[in-house]
Amino acid sequence: MALIKNFKIQNEPEAKALHNEPQGVFISTYGCQMNVNDSERMYSLLEMLNFTSVPQPQDAALIIINSCSVRERPVHKVHSEVGRYRKLKEKNPGLKIGVGGCVGQQEKSKLFKDVPLVDFVFGPDNIDDLPQLVTSCFVNSDVKLMGSKFKHQDPYHVETLIRSTPVAAFVNITKGCDNFCTFCVVPFTRGRERSRPYKHLIKDIQSLVERGVKEVTLLGQNVNSYKSDCGVCFPELLKGIALETDIERIRYTTSHPKDFNEELMKVSAEHQDKICDYIHLPVQSGNSEVLERMNRGYSRKDYIEKVKMIRNYMPTVSLSTDIIVGFPGETDEQFEETLSLVEEVDYESIYAFMYSPRPFTKAARYEDQLTREQKSERLQRLFKQHELKAFAKAKEYEGQILDILVETYDEKLQNLKGRSTQNKVTYFAGGPELVGKTLAVKINKAFPQTLRGERVTL
Ligand code: SAH
Ligand code: SF4
Ligand code: F3S
Repeated sequence: MALIKNFKIQNEPEAKALHNEPQGVFISTYGCQMNVNDSERMYSLLEMLNFTSVPQPQDAALIIINSCSVRERPVHKVHSEVGRYRKLKEKNPGLKIGVGGCVGQQEKSKLFKDVPLVDFVFGPDNIDDLPQLVTSCFVNSDVKLMGSKFKHQDPYHVETLIRSTPVAAFVNITKGCDNFCTFCVVPFTRGRERSRPYKHLIKDIQSLVERGVKEVTLLGQNVNSYKSDCGVCFPELLKGIALETDIERIRYTTSHPKDFNEELMKVSAEHQDKICDYIHLPVQSGNSEVLERMNRGYSRKDYIEKVKMIRNYMPTVSLSTDIIVGFPGETDEQFEETLSLVEEVDYESIYAFMYSPRPFTKAARYEDQLTREQKSERLQRLFKQHELKAFAKAKEYEGQILDILVETYDEKLQNLKGRSTQNKVTYFAGGPELVGKTLAVKINKAFPQTLRGERVTL
């Protein structure tokens, strides 16, 4: 079976025939919000090719797995998901299966050897080539196709594509990452960091507003290092979006503590009507030596000082974080420092992971790798410590009145679901006409992850 890297459409008439017939596409998405946004882009591009999204893989002529390789587990999930499609492919040999995302970029043509059911592989930098890739794949059914070239030289301007109008949309502001934290595969799967031009971003967000979007989440691996072609930095970008567009709410993720500065806080305080009261600030470890070996560029003290500064400017802010337990060489005492930092910072939620050695990364070659048991024991301790605290924190919302932007209506439960500016998911009774509105909701009951309340008039 041939492997084609340059996938120019070979046979125009057949390609056109493919475009004329509507076909089902199913995309399953792993990983971060960037992948969620990329899948939305894939669906939008494939709709232009006359594909329609189907809710189940068995109804699809095309299945795409938008994969994540940040830890071992999501990579395994990709392999086992492809395995589950064996029967579908036996029944329908015309079914095409593609792997996109970070596993695609990392493994490239090796995937064809490891998982022969896969017809095409592509990386996060090649999403805009997808229509061509898919068409070629249907036309030349006996070749394997690959698109995984980094496009470092191309201008980075991708207009946000959405299918229906969501209340809240993701908008990429940067791609790639230059930080090379020693545990992280992302710089190798997403390439070098690039920022979208400022003016394009403003125009893009305003056009989302005109289609009905109320909230945007600005996405980047390190949004704080955004630097536009005309020298605009991240706080200036936020200010520009707040002043020059009619968007109601602005969120952003992920913030890197080393580049998080006071200017950002000043802009957030000035535009608190639009900039949400929620910051995800991954700490990774509470011990300065571990942080240094992770190449994070800040110490425990630096981090805690930044948190104090944040609370100074935004007293009602809700903070969340990412933590890695069992980094190579992490001692019990060093791990205890992570526990004490979590206690001290008083996060609303934490996302914690066992360290997982990743290909190409420096830390994978460090000596003193911990055993799975050690890592798992630390993870349990961390979760246990935080669980009760997080629930007690959620309970503080009981009795408060929060502004909830309604995102969806559940017909069965006749329930509305929305989020507060602190990113708390809140349910309350109401009809579908309220989707897209920001309403005052009194919180009656807090659950560990969500809130329940009732609409009030002020
Ligand atoms: N750009 C973001 C993180 C992207 S990856 C940042 O810098 O914060 C999301 C999270 O996955 C990281 O914050 C980290 O906690 C976790 N992670 C990344 N690589 C990992 C690895 N090798 N093992 C375990 N967790 C990892
Ligand atoms: Fe990975 Fe670090 Fe870049 Fe985040 S900042 S994507 S953890 S290398
Ligand atoms: Fe995963 Fe790639 Fe995102 S590795 S976390 S999908 S950047």
